Amino acid sequence: MTLDTPISLLGGLSPQVFMRRHWQKKPLLIRQALPGTEPALDRAALVALAATDGVESRLIERRAGRWSLRHGPFTRRQLPPLARPDWTLLVQGVDLHVPAAHHLLSRFRFASDVRLDDVMISYATEGGGVGPHIDSYDVFLLQLAGRRRWRVGRARKPALVPDMPLKMLANFEPEHEWTLDAGDMLYLPPGWAHDGVADGECLTASIGFRAPTRKEVGMHVLQRMLDGVEDDDGTGSRYRDATQAATDQPALIPPRLAGFAADAVRRLVDDPLSLNCALGEWLSEPKPQTWFDPVDALPGRCAVSLDRRTRMLYDDRHLFINGESFVATGRDARLMQRLADHRALDAKEVAQLGTSAWELLQSWVFQGWLRAVEAEAGS
Ligand code: SIN
Ligand code: CO
Repeated sequence: MTLDTPISLLGGLSPQVFMRRHWQKKPLLIRQALPGTEPALDRAALVALAATDGVESRLIERRAGRWSLRHGPFTRRQLPPLARPDWTLLVQGVDLHVPAAHHLLSRFRFASDVRLDDVMISYATEGGGVGPHIDSYDVFLLQLAGRRRWRVGRARKPALVPDMPLKMLANFEPEHEWTLDAGDMLYLPPGWAHDGVADGECLTASIGFRAPTRKEVGMHVLQRMLDGVEDDDGTGSRYRDATQAATDQPALIPPRLAGFAADAVRRLVDDPLSLNCALGEWLSEPKPQTWFDPVDALPGRCAVSLDRRTRMLYDDRHLFINGESFVATGRDARLMQRLADHRALDAKEVAQLGTSAWELLQSWVFQGWLRAVEAEAGS
C-alpha cells in the first residue's frame, strides 16, 4: 500500500490525507469500508473465546433500567439467553487469538505499530450496548454483522453518572446519529462521546489505539534504565561529604545531598542511547498473558514471518523484539528493519543475513516469535 493512494477502508481518502484531516481531530463515517468481507469471527467463536482463561471479556447488561458489569471468563451457560434483549459481551485482544482479527488490525499499521493496541469484538442482542461514554484513545468502530445505531458528540464538560459499575456519561449531547450496516466503519478521535445501540443482534469490532501518558512512559522507561545501572560500581558513584562541618541542625537535609540527587537523576536521563533502548524494550513488550508456542527449527534459510503475537520495532541503532533489544548495524540492520516493517522476509533476504543475525533469527524461532512461512499457512 502506498500512503498517498486513496483506499476504500478510509472512505476514498489516502492514509496521508486521513492522518492529516481526521486523525486525533474529527470523526469520519466510512460507508462500506470493508464490504462483503467475512467477519473475523462469528458469535459462536466469540462466545468460545470468552470462555478461555487468559482472554479478557466483559458482560454488560441492562435490566429494568439497571446496568450490570461482570468480568469473564464465561461459560455459554453463564451468558444470558440470546432471545433476551439489552446485553452485550465484549472480548478484548481478539487479534492475539484469531488470525483474521490480526489481519484486520494490520490494515491500520499506517498509524505506526506503537499506536496499535488491539481488536475488541462485541456481540450484542437488540438494544445492547455499553451506554454513552468517552474513550481516551482513537478508535475505529467496524460493523461486522447486523446493524448498530451510533450517536456521537463532543464531550465538552463530561460528568459521570454516580454509583455505576461502568463509566457512563450523565450529560451526553449527541451531534450526529448514524446507523452502521455490516462493512460500515466509524473513526472517533479520543475524547468524543459515543453511544452504540444494537439494532437487532449485531457484532462490532473496535480497532483500538494506545497512547501512553507522560507518567506511564516516564515510569516504565526510568524503571528499565535503572535496572541497567550498577549501584556503587566502585568508581565514586556513592555520596561523599568529606567537607561536611559539624551541624547543630541534624535534621536538615544537606543541600549537597539534594544536589547529588539532582545530578543522579540528570545523569540517568541524560543518556539518550539507553533512554531510547529502554523505550523500545518497553514498547515492544508483549501484552500480559501472551504466550508463544514453541516452533520447530527452520529447515534452512527459508522465508520467515513474525508470529502474530510478536511485537518488533526498531530505531536507528537498535532492534526491539518482545521486550528485548539488540544493537544492529549495516546490511543486517537493514534486513531486520525490513522484517519488522513487513513482518516477513523472503528466502533471498534470509540468505543475505550474516552469521550472527542468522543465529539470532534461529533463536527467535525456538522461542516461537518467528516461523517458516510454510508453517504459517492457514494459521
Ligand atoms: C461496543 O462494541 O459495544 C463498544 C465499543 C465502544 O463504544 O467503544
Ligand atoms: Co467506546
